Amino acid sequence: MRVLITGGAGFLGSHLTDAFLARGDEVTILDVASDLKVRHQLQNAQFRYVRDSVFSREILEGLISWCDVVYHLAAVVGVEHYVGDPYQVLNVNVNGTQTVLNVAFKARKKVIFSSTSEVYGRSLSIPFKEDGDRVLGSTQIDRWCYSTSKAVGEHFCFAFYKLGLPVVVLRYFNVYGPRLDHMDVGRVITIFLGQLMRGVPLTVIGDGRQTRCFTYVEDAIRATVAAGLKEEAVGRIVNVGSDEEVSIKDLAAMMIRISGSRSSVTFVPQQSVYGDSYEDISRRVPDIQRMREILGVTPQVPLEEGLKRTIEWFRRQGVEGNR
Ligand SMILES: NC(=O)c1ccc[n+]([C@@H]2O[C@H](COP(=O)([O-])OP(=O)(O)OC[C@H]3O[C@@H](n4cnc5c(N)ncnc54)[C@H](O)[C@@H]3O)[C@@H](O)[C@H]2O)c1
Repeated sequence: MRVLITGGAGFLGSHLTDAFLARGDEVTILDVASDLKVRHQLQNAQFRYVRDSVFSREILEGLISWCDVVYHLAAVVGVEHYVGDPYQVLNVNVNGTQTVLNVAFKARKKVIFSSTSEVYGRSLSIPFKEDGDRVLGSTQIDRWCYSTSKAVGEHFCFAFYKLGLPVVVLRYFNVYGPRLDHMDVGRVITIFLGQLMRGVPLTVIGDGRQTRCFTYVEDAIRATVAAGLKEEAVGRIVNVGSDEEVSIKDLAAMMIRISGSRSSVTFVPQQSVYGDSYEDISRRVPDIQRMREILGVTPQVPLEEGLKRTIEWFRRQGVEGNR
């Protein structure tokens, strides 16, 4: 099979690339980022890395006509962008997605769209079911721009589905593992990792009672591959996550224990980190029945085991190697 992965040089995209290449498929990635996370595949004859944007229409058209399936992962991701550069978030996640879907529609190629648990916003209907309501805050609170951008992407997917394009929407829940962002930046696990490695206190934002369900990347990738292969997934939204719920304060304690670090935990008010443009979500738990039934995937790596593997990987890279 020929697989095109937009955003393929990112965290999930690089693991998805490895998974398809391991199956014997051909993979082309389209990404504006450096090849850091896919460097180990550059000599693989089945792999091609095109360093360009999804907005480069001609290149995109050529790649989509080449492939059998499009995995659209390219996006501007990360809280620092939601509050720091909402324009880019909206532009890439909405207009970039529309461009990919348009071209795929003309070429009649299936699209697997990477959406997010953020789409549920601060819904209190735990666990989050794919058909459940979305509950968002004001448009003057920038943090909702990412959730909104991905929801618009989903609407575009279903609009094209109505016109005959096969689409699958995956909503990822806090995926983590080797090659997640650089230490000290990005998502909570890499921020904690950087602090652990430097032996400084782990900064928990707010009171730390907010919960998340972290998904080990191997489990997320098995589900992602299945989404492109299973006919039953077409036209559906599927949560991709684990239902092991942990508070951020317990996550910090667990990471300190596993790593054997002497770091402590410090609590900082949310406003001092993100200003007024941020509102946290208190609980986030997926219903993963569809992932089990439609994709045939059940999470297999418990949080403690996944964190051990992640911490070991970052240690092997060394603090400097990750900057
Ligand atoms: N990792 C998670 O926990 C998680 C959770 C929810 C949703 N997602 C979604 O999964 C996808 C992948 O996420 P990730 O964690 O790998 O993030 P990531 O930031 O590592 O990957 C996104 C990639 O998209 C690329 N990109 C940005 N703009 C582009 C453009 N104009 N053209 C081409 N490439 C562009 C970036 O360079 C980056 O490599 C994203 O769509 C994200 O919204 C991820």
